[in-house]
Amino acid sequence: MTKKSGWRPETQAIHAGITGYPDRGAVAPPIYQTSTFQFHDTEHLNDILSGKVEGDIYTRYGNPTQRAVERTLCALEKTEAALVVGSGMAAITTTVLGLLKTGDAILTVADIYGGAYHFFHDFLPRLGIETIMVPSHEVSDLEAAITPQTKMIYVESPTNPLLNILPLKEVAEMGKRHGCLLIIDNTFSTPINQTPIDFGFDIILHSATKYLGGHSDILAGVVAGSETLVEQLRKTMRILGPTLDPFAAWLLLRGIKTLPIRVERHNQNAQRLAEYLEGHPKVSRVYYPGLSAHPGHKWAKNQMRGFGGVVSFEIEGTGLDAAKFVESVELMAMAPSLGAVETLITQPVTTSHRGFAPEDRAKAGIKDTLIRVAVGVENFEDLVDDFEKGFAALG
Ligand SMILES: Cc1ncc(COP(=O)(O)O)c(C=O)c1O
Repeated sequence: MTKKSGWRPETQAIHAGITGYPDRGAVAPPIYQTSTFQFHDTEHLNDILSGKVEGDIYTRYGNPTQRAVERTLCALEKTEAALVVGSGMAAITTTVLGLLKTGDAILTVADIYGGAYHFFHDFLPRLGIETIMVPSHEVSDLEAAITPQTKMIYVESPTNPLLNILPLKEVAEMGKRHGCLLIIDNTFSTPINQTPIDFGFDIILHSATKYLGGHSDILAGVVAGSETLVEQLRKTMRILGPTLDPFAAWLLLRGIKTLPIRVERHNQNAQRLAEYLEGHPKVSRVYYPGLSAHPGHKWAKNQMRGFGGVVSFEIEGTGLDAAKFVESVELMAMAPSLGAVETLITQPVTTSHRGFAPEDRAKAGIKDTLIRVAVGVENFEDLVDDFEKGFAALG
């Protein structure tokens, strides 16, 4: 599906999805902002449906702008195919609903994205699908929780918000031994920092709202994997309907062109920020896989090309102090989400993990004093000046 398989990621990000528009010489692709497509006659419709000629029918079934971004994404994730959908949650729900049935179980870790947690805990039980959450990142603990019903292992690495690392190759090998499908939410890493297909994962998901889009201006999701699995999920998407609007697909395509250089800068800023926080007297703990003291550093070094743009830390004091800190900074926006050019800061207990049951939050190790920083690509010294404002507000 890629235009040229020999290209490296920086080149793929720019060129893989664009097939060229020689009739007009447009360098940027057009947006097919249409809900439906017209046929010449019934024979033409039949030829499109049978695949005899190329063509489209209706945008929920497919659209050239969506396909351009899908070509780019499968080139970057090194998968056979990719599907774009309307949000990261749509990628998660479409994948689970498209692959599991009543009586099946999912195995996951304790510190996953809050939206996925709610889908697993509040929605799936209605369909008779159980979720087993393991408060550990040890493969042996995950394996011990597998039952005959476990059909899917669902992970994030690094996890949200504590940046825990799972040894992906070992997890995939263990899952395969038990006949499970291996699913990973690769939002935090992006394909620039990590390509989980290399370790045996079947489906790679993204909230493309984050780094892939990169500019806090769209919601989008991605499912990447084999032709067979992605086709099954494309059929599910057509039924459930979380289509990505063509304009959002076009903005996503544009955002991805600069993904490699943005991620390089996110990685650098985050590493420097983690080191600055590690030496700060008002910080009790820093979570960043690029720090040698991080428990998952060894695994991260093996499986990642960069450690990502999210840094979490606990401040000395109380949850109220953490709230005061995020309210006192000026450059950084107190806003949920991550992966954009601008730095965003949150207190997970009041945002992404607000709805977790208190015991599940404790299991996941998410404290009231925890602050998550989605480091942007601004000048690093300006970010440090802003952090100093936050610390000064604590007195
Ligand atoms: C790791 C992760 N996965 C999935 C999602 C959901 O993505 P969306 O908001 O695009 O539905 C998020 C959103 O914050 C996330 O952080």
